[in-house]
Amino acid sequence: MTSVGIVYHSGFGHTAALARAVAEGVVTVPGTSARMVFAEDAAGDPHQLDGYDALVLGCPTYMAGPSAGFKEFMDATSGIWLKQGWKDKLAAGFTNSGGYSGDKLNTLVQLMLFAMQHGMVWVGLGLPDGGSTSASAGLNRLGSYAGAMAKSDVDLGMDGTPESDVATAEALGRRVALAALRWRVSERVEK
Ligand SMILES: Cc1cc2nc3c(=O)[nH]c(=O)nc-3n(C[C@H](O)[C@H](O)[C@H](O)COP(=O)(O)O)c2cc1C
Repeated sequence: MTSVGIVYHSGFGHTAALARAVAEGVVTVPGTSARMVFAEDAAGDPHQLDGYDALVLGCPTYMAGPSAGFKEFMDATSGIWLKQGWKDKLAAGFTNSGGYSGDKLNTLVQLMLFAMQHGMVWVGLGLPDGGSTSASAGLNRLGSYAGAMAKSDVDLGMDGTPESDVATAEALGRRVALAALRWRVSERVEK
């Protein structure tokens, strides 16, 4: 069984909904399991993530970067970083914010560099820019490549995240699950 851990933070629930979509995308791939882990719980025991083939990292963009709750998790992994314990594990990321840009790219870059520091292998979104079509219902309507982005209209409460962004998060989950399957095969060849 290939396993994908989804480590996420969410202050108000919008990013949690995306994390659920990522999990739904993961389990569309036969033989693959998904588990959601809240970042603050993962911060208390980051070694609980050691056994996953891939980690999908997700948080809202707060003040132009990862939310403090997610940063707490990042900092808590420094002991694992020291031993490069997650080297060659796959990683990917997603973020959500109130603005169309809102500086979400900076959050994805920070998630990606975090993964690079750990020696992990980053999986991008792999979807063309869906924003140039007239329909905002297209996948990747925000035109992101490093990971999945979502814009939540905060004045609409929990209905504020468009279905297209939720579907984009689901597509990321499926892509990571497929990549993890291939990665396991190559690991077997190396051993
Ligand atoms: C402390 C704080 C800082 C924020 N900073 C930004 C920001 O830099 N850019 C942006 O577009 N939205 C920003 N927002 C809006 C959130 O990203 C948005 O409400 C998001 O949907 C929250 O996700 P959550 O429900 O998972 O917490 C901020 C919200 C808060 C509470």
